[in-house]
Amino acid sequence: MKKTTFKKLNPVQQQLVLEAAKAMEKAYNPYSHFFVGAAIMTPDKKIITGANVENAAYGSCICAERSALVRANAEGVRKISHIAVIGRPGRKTCPEPVAPCGACRQMIFESSQISKIDTEIIMANTKMDKIIIARISELLPLAFGPKDLK
Ligand code: THU
Repeated sequence: MKKTTFKKLNPVQQQLVLEAAKAMEKAYNPYSHFFVGAAIMTPDKKIITGANVENAAYGSCICAERSALVRANAEGVRKISHIAVIGRPGRKTCPEPVAPCGACRQMIFESSQISKIDTEIIMANTKMDKIIIARISELLPLAFGPKDLK
């Protein structure tokens, strides 16, 4: 796990955070008013984004990260090398980076197994002066995965 800032990211990581920030504006969040954007990068440098989509039946809400992964699957993309996540409550700024929830970590883990890449997760606050970079193996240790079903 590494703490850094936007300025210190490499150009690919910066691009991914900016795409996640753009996607965040597409959040459908009439219940929580919390905006989250995610941007996936594939090993061949394709970017696929997602935002959180809420529902009056609260349990049917989907996070930005899973929404991006599901969108990627619909486009025939299952391999991911990086994912950037950014969020904020309403119109306010968010002082701390937003980290993927447990269900999203589990789905990122599945993608990491398929990809044979320990996926890099880039978590940003809205000012982008606080960025945390971690691998999925750090965020979901001792994960249940495809190998357990063999
Ligand atoms: N949310 C995400 O999109 N990603 C996360 O990792 C955490 C939570 C969304 C779900 C819901 O729309 C809102 O944030 C509040 O929980």
